[in-house]
This record gives sequence, structure tokens and C-alpha cells, in this order.
Amino acid sequence: MNSNIGKRPLTRASFIWSMLHGSLTFFILSMVMSAGTALLDLINPRIVSCVVDNVLGSLPVREGFNEMFLSLAGGADNVRAKLYIPALAVAGVALAGALTRYGQGLTNSIGAERLVKRIRNVLFSHTDRLPMSWYGKNQTGDILQRCTSDVETVKQFVSVQLTSLVRIVLLVVLSIAFMAGIDITLTIAAAAFLPVIIGYSAYFHGRIGKTFMEADSEEGVVSSIVQENLTGIRVVRAFGKEAYECGRFRDKNEKYTSLWVRLMNLMAAFWSLGDLISGLQIMTIVVLGAVFCVNKGMTAGNYIAFISYNSMLAWPVRELGRTIAELSRAGVSIDRIIYILNAVPEDIAEGECDIMKDADPVISLENVSYSYTDGIDVLKGIDLHVSRGEKIGIIGGTGSGKSTLTDILMRTCDPERLRGKVVFCGRPADSYPLASYRRRFARVLQEPFLFSGTIAHNIGIASDSVTDEKIREAAEDASLMSAVEKFTNGLETFVGERGVTLSGGQKQRCALASCLANADNADVLILDDSFSALDAETDARIRNTLFTKYPDTTMIIIAHRITTIAGCDRIYVLDKGCIAGEGTHAELITQEGIYRDIYELQSGK
Ligand SMILES: Nc1ncnc2c1ncn2[C@@H]1O[C@H](COP(=O)(O)OP(=O)(O)OP(=O)(O)O)[C@@H](O)[C@H]1O
Ligand SMILES: [Mg+2]
Repeated sequence: MNSNIGKRPLTRASFIWSMLHGSLTFFILSMVMSAGTALLDLINPRIVSCVVDNVLGSLPVREGFNEMFLSLAGGADNVRAKLYIPALAVAGVALAGALTRYGQGLTNSIGAERLVKRIRNVLFSHTDRLPMSWYGKNQTGDILQRCTSDVETVKQFVSVQLTSLVRIVLLVVLSIAFMAGIDITLTIAAAAFLPVIIGYSAYFHGRIGKTFMEADSEEGVVSSIVQENLTGIRVVRAFGKEAYECGRFRDKNEKYTSLWVRLMNLMAAFWSLGDLISGLQIMTIVVLGAVFCVNKGMTAGNYIAFISYNSMLAWPVRELGRTIAELSRAGVSIDRIIYILNAVPEDIAEGECDIMKDADPVISLENVSYSYTDGIDVLKGIDLHVSRGEKIGIIGGTGSGKSTLTDILMRTCDPERLRGKVVFCGRPADSYPLASYRRRFARVLQEPFLFSGTIAHNIGIASDSVTDEKIREAAEDASLMSAVEKFTNGLETFVGERGVTLSGGQKQRCALASCLANADNADVLILDDSFSALDAETDARIRNTLFTKYPDTTMIIIAHRITTIAGCDRIYVLDKGCIAGEGTHAELITQEGIYRDIYELQSGK
């Protein structure tokens, strides 16, 4: 659906064009009906003018519309005898106008809903593929706001302003043409006001757009605070930060409100100035028209028609001003949506991950460094080699780079910031298609995340074809069943949003079970601090199960507890982004260094 997106940068025009797929026909129909409505609106003043001059009055019939109308109605005398004929004609035109208006509204609504559905779908599938590094730089609340209220603004603009543009332009052009047909001098006087209206619209257009952009990004900040507080409500409660958070929200809300007040102030000035100019224009034409009637022999019918057309002109010109003003708002919203769509997604094109089955080592990092911010390396010159089936333990202080190392292995980090060589099964890791490459790994994240759904749903989430037996087996292996059996609905128990109804240890075991449900197909298991919330006995039981059940699977176990990794074939010690030690547990405790310090501290020796 969005194959072009992310490949070449979208502009406002190319964004609108690509989103119109599926709704364009409806918008074209809507524009055609809109044009029909405009044409019909222009007929009635001509009928009234003709009746006043040629039926009620006895002026000679002019060529053109009057002549055509009267000949269709059986001549002026016939109409004079049957005055219901022009009344019926006016009613017929009004009815036809109502039908085209209805058709225009209907097709427009369908087009608008289709358009907004497409934008939402494209945005969702795009954000789903954006790299983690992008999420590190953008706030969730702001992204959400771009995906909701900015999409709504674009929908409003395309469906309300853009489709009525045809009617507005037609009304303006035809009104002026009809007016010019009646009296050219009076038409010039009426049209003289147009540049003034367009000029003040352009002025406000710039100012409104700028203020709207500020207000919109401030709304993103407010949404972010709400979103953070809702998701982190436990932390807020635990630290008694309610007052602080309320204060923070109030400050931002204050700023947001004042920006909207400024925006509304500008809008009010825009509309009232518009009203003033329109009022002046109408008054000038009414007065000048009256003068022309008295001094230049303008007929009463023509005077009425001219004033009708002039008031018809006033409205679309004002609307034109509004369209210009809305254009700046919509432009800002489009830019905010394009910002997301122009972020380059991960290339998750499917393809076989053609690994060399017998390659050894399975993982090889040579002189790997990584930085999240320029100039600060969180990993520095890492050399790490893992043989097939080896169980590797990684230990190190917080912030020493353990999780970053797993991100590098799974290619969830920013490749631009990675230096050195990462080799997987004999080939550079980045030479494999991303999606199938990631499926070679089964990982438990350091911070387990559960979707709202059942426990079974969360365990089977990584695979489309997982069986109920496999889910149960994974839950057993992760020592989750003993806890699950206490729930009334067992594995079908619904866990709240982000698994709030489970304890920390249960959540961790649920995430572990989800990894194990997928472990048969994986070459490497990565467990990032996945035993931290478990008691020592459960920790040991799960590890024993893993080691006996997956003897040939390569494992990387990250932990802070020595006992969790002591049984590994080899242990790497990380310190401030560097490897500070390597060996078996027995070797490391005989050497001076961080490992022995941690060991002595934890074992009380
Ligand atoms: N998305 C990020 N943006 C910027 N800096 C980051 C990001 N993620 C991690 N860091 C920084 O990189 C360093 C290494 O982080 P990492 O999460 O790899 O440490 P860790 O060894 O896993 O720590 P822990 O034991 O606490 O889990 C830290 O200093 C951290 O502040
Ligand atoms: Mg970590």
C-alpha cells in the first residue's frame, strides 16, 4: 500500500496525491455536483430579474436568458396570466439545487472517510516498521497526536475546503461574468474589493499558520504528559509525584491555552475584518446601483439581479479567504504527518536468511563500538565470539552496555552509529534479510511488555502457527504453570493493559515462555536480565530446564546475579562499554577484577 513511502521524500502534493487513492472518484463526483449547485444557484436571480422587467414591467425582452426563459414559458403574456409558472421554475431550480447539494455532501463524506482510513492505515503500517532509534528521538504522545488530530485536520481540509473550491471559483467567475453582462462599471466597482480581501487573507494566512504550528506541537507536549502519566501511574503514585505532575501538566496546559487564545484572537480579527470589508462592498454596490437606476436607466430587474449576484460573490470570496487560512493549518498538519512518513523504515522485506548451518563461531563481534550520542561510545572495541551451542553469560554494572550488545546482535540499533564487524554464521549480520534474520533469535527483553489479551495469546505472540500444546509446554518450562493454575481461567486469563494484573515475576516468566514457544526455530536464545524478578530456586529450575532441553542452542544470558550465569560455558564481564574479563566462573573467581568483587559481595565471602 505504501511502497513509495520512505523511499523518496514526500511533499505536500505527493502526500495528498498518494492518499487520494480510493477516494479520488468520490471527490471528483462531489466537485461535479458542487459545480452543478453553483450553476443552479445562479439561475434564480435571472428568473426574478426577467419577471420584474418583462412580466410585471413592460420593458422590451433582452436577448439571451430572458428571451429563452419567456419563450419556454409560452411568452410574456402567458406568464403574466399564469404567475405560478415563474414560481414553479424557481422552486424547480431550488429542488434541483437541493438534490445536487445532497449528492455533493454524500459523495464528499464517503470520499473523506475513505481518505482518512487510508491515511490511518498507511501511518500505522509505517510506524510499525520504524526503527527503534527513531522512537528514541520522538515522544509517543506527539506521534499519537500527529496520527489523530492532524489526520482529522487534513480530512476536514480536503473534504470541506478543497471540494468546495470548485464551487467557489465557479461562483466567483460566473457571478462576475453575469454582473459584467448587466453593467461593466458597477462590476469593476464590485471587483475592486477583491484584491483587498485576498491581500488581508494572505496576511492572516501567514500569521495563523505560524501560530497553529506552535499550538499543534504544544498539543503534542500536553498529550505526551498525559500519556506518560497514564502509563506510568504506578510510579507517580509510588513516589507521591501527583502534585508535581499536576503542576507540570498545568504549566504546559497554560502555554497551550494561551497559544489557542492567540490563535482564536487572530481568527476573530480575520473574520471581523472580512465582515467589515464585505459589508462595505455590499453597501457600496447597493448605493451605486441605486444611483445607476436613477441616473443611467438601469432597470429594477437588473438592479435586483446585480445585488443578488454581488451578495453571492461576497460569500465565496470570504470562503476563498477561509480556504487560504485553512490551507495553512492543513499544510502544517500535512507536514507533521509527512515527518512520520518520511522517516526511513527498517527494510523488513521478506527473504530467506541463508545461513551456513555449520559455521562456527555463530556470532562474532570484531572491534565493535556503538554510540547513541555523538562522541560518547557506550560500547568500545568489543571482541566477542560465541561458538555453536555455547552458553554465554554476560555480567556488568548498570549502563555498561549489555542490552545495547543484544540490540546490535538483533539489528534493532541504528546501523549508522555502529562501527566494527558483526558476523552471524559466517556472513556479515547486515547481509541477511532483516525479518528472517531476526527470526534466528529468540529474545526476552529486559523490560517485558505484555499486550492486553490472554496469557496464552501473549505466550504465542511471536509465532503465527504455535499450537496450544506448545504454549502449555513453554509455560511449564518457564515455571509459569504453577502460578497460572491458580487463576480461574488458567492460560485463558485476561491480563490487563501491559499485563498490569500480573506480578513482576509472573510477567517476566510470561515473557520467557513467549520466547521459549519460539525457541525451537531459533539459533540463538538471548535472555536479558530475565531472571531478576525470580527467586533463586525458580531461577535455577528454569536454567536447568533450558540447558537440558536446548543443549545445541546457543544462549546468551545477561544477569546481575552471579548464580544465574555461574553455570555458563563462558562468561564475559563488561565494564563501561569494554570487556573487562572473560573465562569460566572457576577461572574468573581466581583472577582479581570486577567479577571476583561481585562474587565476593554476593556470596558474602
Ligand atoms: N536509547 C538510548 N538513547 C541514548 N542512550 C542510551 C539509550 N539506551 C541506552 N543508552 C545508554 O547506553 C548505555 C548502555 O545502556 P544499556 O542499556 O546497554 O546498559 P545495560 O548494561 O544493559 O544496563 P542495565 O544493567 O541497567 O540493563 C547507558 O549509559 C545508557 O544510558
Ligand atoms: Mg540492560
